[in-house]
Amino acid sequence: MARRNKLDGRMDRVFCGDCRELLASLPDDSVDLIVSSPPYNLGKEYESKIALERYIQAQTEVLLECSRVLSRTGSIFWQVGAFADRGMLVPLDIRFFPVLESCGLIPRNRIVWARQHGLHAKKKFSCRHETILWFTKTDTYTFNLDAVRVPQKYQNKKHYRGDKRGQLSCNPEGKNPGDIWLFRNVKHNHEEQTVHPCQFPEDMVARIVLATTNEGDVVLDPYMGVGTVAVVARDLDRRFIGAEKDEEYHQIAEQRLAGEPDEHGVFPNLKTLRDYCERTGEVVEMYRFAVQVGRQPTDRSKAKIHPEHHHLAEMEDRIEYEEAAFAADLRGDDRPVDVNLNGGKKEGMPLFS
Ligand SMILES: C[S@@+](CC[C@H](N)C(=O)[O-])C[C@H]1O[C@@H](n2cnc3c(N)ncnc32)[C@H](O)[C@@H]1O
Repeated sequence: MARRNKLDGRMDRVFCGDCRELLASLPDDSVDLIVSSPPYNLGKEYESKIALERYIQAQTEVLLECSRVLSRTGSIFWQVGAFADRGMLVPLDIRFFPVLESCGLIPRNRIVWARQHGLHAKKKFSCRHETILWFTKTDTYTFNLDAVRVPQKYQNKKHYRGDKRGQLSCNPEGKNPGDIWLFRNVKHNHEEQTVHPCQFPEDMVARIVLATTNEGDVVLDPYMGVGTVAVVARDLDRRFIGAEKDEEYHQIAEQRLAGEPDEHGVFPNLKTLRDYCERTGEVVEMYRFAVQVGRQPTDRSKAKIHPEHHHLAEMEDRIEYEEAAFAADLRGDDRPVDVNLNGGKKEGMPLFS
């Protein structure tokens, strides 16, 4: 409680300004989880290699502060992609890994956040993943695996010999989600899309928050963007704190947290609109949202929202099919038929024949 009191005034708020100012004002050992995706627009003012070194140096200062404010049982999740310039690629996690170690933090996982879609490269393989580095402050860290289990693939598998013969050999509560995650990117028709170009999906943040904090713990995002980490922490009965220097994004974060329409009946995204209507019983067609594509919003019941394991299975299927097709090409065999071509697959059908 004393630790919480030290954060009074900053708790459950997004500070509009530079995160270095906020971090400098936080006491040692005062937050339980830091989850963030830092900006990596390196600018064009310097020759790119120097810009990259300056960027890493600036980020090192932020991460040293993050490490200082993290509690002894705390975790930090740092999500980054790649820096690319004129065909040259620097996967940023490779550069961040030693920086986090030099802050005295201990690596736990390098999580691959995979996607099915993205830009199609012409002179190299198309990029289909980013990474999330998970580090802890000590070896005594919070990890609630049971809170984030996902369905087992073979749910009826049993021990076939020994004392446990006939008993289930897998945990009926589900399996560890592993370190390849496939949360759909917040783009186009995603319910959570605001005007921000690179939002976290809320479910992905929820997995991190549930696994590494308990109710009432404090979650910090130094680069809040449009407030995804704040919204998730609040919805899961955690406290939050963070900064966003862009006034427009900060305003959107506040609107998402308030969950109310503006004076013109507009919400920052479809999710906030639907949540509001479900809470108040009002009809969705009365309102609009900032990134609206269609003529009017629809109820959530009419939306196709799949859980992460659906997308993961779909991606596994597709990769399996592409490899089988490539193997057939190499051997001069007929290509297998993709029954999922143009979205034709029905539940329970084999992927290819
Ligand atoms: C990759 S985005 C984060 C998006 C966020 N995860 C979300 O879901 O909305 C990085 C954000 O950091 C903000 N930013 C950049 N430098 C900052 C600084 N020094 N202090 C606070 N915010 C900053 C940018 O305006 C941008 O919105």
